[in-house]
Amino acid sequence: METENKTPTAEAMEMSHSDLSEQIKVVTRDSHLRAENTPLMLSYQKGHVTLEQYKLLLCSLQHIYEALEDVMEENSSHPGVAPIYFPAELARREMVEADLEYFYGQDWRQKVVVPKATERYAHRLRQIGRENPEFLVAHAYTRYLGDLSGGQMLGRITQKCLGLKNGKGLGLGFFSFPNVTNHNLFKQLYRSRMNSVELTEEQRTGMLEEAVLSFELNIQVFNELQDIESRMQKEADLQTHTSQEKLLNDTL
Ligand code: HEM
Repeated sequence: METENKTPTAEAMEMSHSDLSEQIKVVTRDSHLRAENTPLMLSYQKGHVTLEQYKLLLCSLQHIYEALEDVMEENSSHPGVAPIYFPAELARREMVEADLEYFYGQDWRQKVVVPKATERYAHRLRQIGRENPEFLVAHAYTRYLGDLSGGQMLGRITQKCLGLKNGKGLGLGFFSFPNVTNHNLFKQLYRSRMNSVELTEEQRTGMLEEAVLSFELNIQVFNELQDIESRMQKEADLQTHTSQEKLLNDTL
């Protein structure tokens, strides 16, 4: 009964002797469910992905990973970051940029669309990098373990829907981790490294809150991307309607 009104952070803090990786999973369980149920992720799970949707997602991912990987590199020797710093295995920025070049050409930087929610996410990552680098684990966990988990399914759906080929620079590189031979084993290693980071109780609470925020920032990005996509779709429908009307008028 007592657990019913507890916040996820309170519930996780009660597991004070358990590992950070377990606590973070408990604290973000509801957020994960909400992320999975955003219209964008639902449309993915139903196998409805348009090229426009995917390109917009890649633009945001580039902006997010540019910030995340900049701050991870800047803080790579920080005791809270060093154990989970795996640039050779995990780095996404170069992969996503090669995909953007495939879709938009060499001048992709001039063409990318970065919604406000994506700017806010990147801004938070840079702020944490400057002010609380020990909380970067929460952000790296949310993105990289997500990419190695449900993200793999998203990759397969994208490939099927859009008929893209696997490999760096062929549009799907974002989903591939050529230096991670066994995803499950790597995730286990990652969790054990997370658990090796020493944290005060105060830092642990802050970390759990940051993990929830990290999911929230992702949800906001997905929602804004879906709004942009819907607006683009409506404009395209309107244009088709107008040209059909014009054709009809010209014929009559
Ligand atoms: C783990 C599915 C979206 C972050 C998982 C796992 C599944 C899954 C099945 C468990 C894998 C395992 O235990 O090895 C999905 C599906 C999604 C989705 C179907 C949407 C279509 C997301 C999003 C994020 C995310 C949007 C964050 C931005 C994570 C993280 C884990 C995870 C961090 C690791 C949990 C842990 O082991 O502690 N996901 N996911 N997922 N997912 Fe998702």
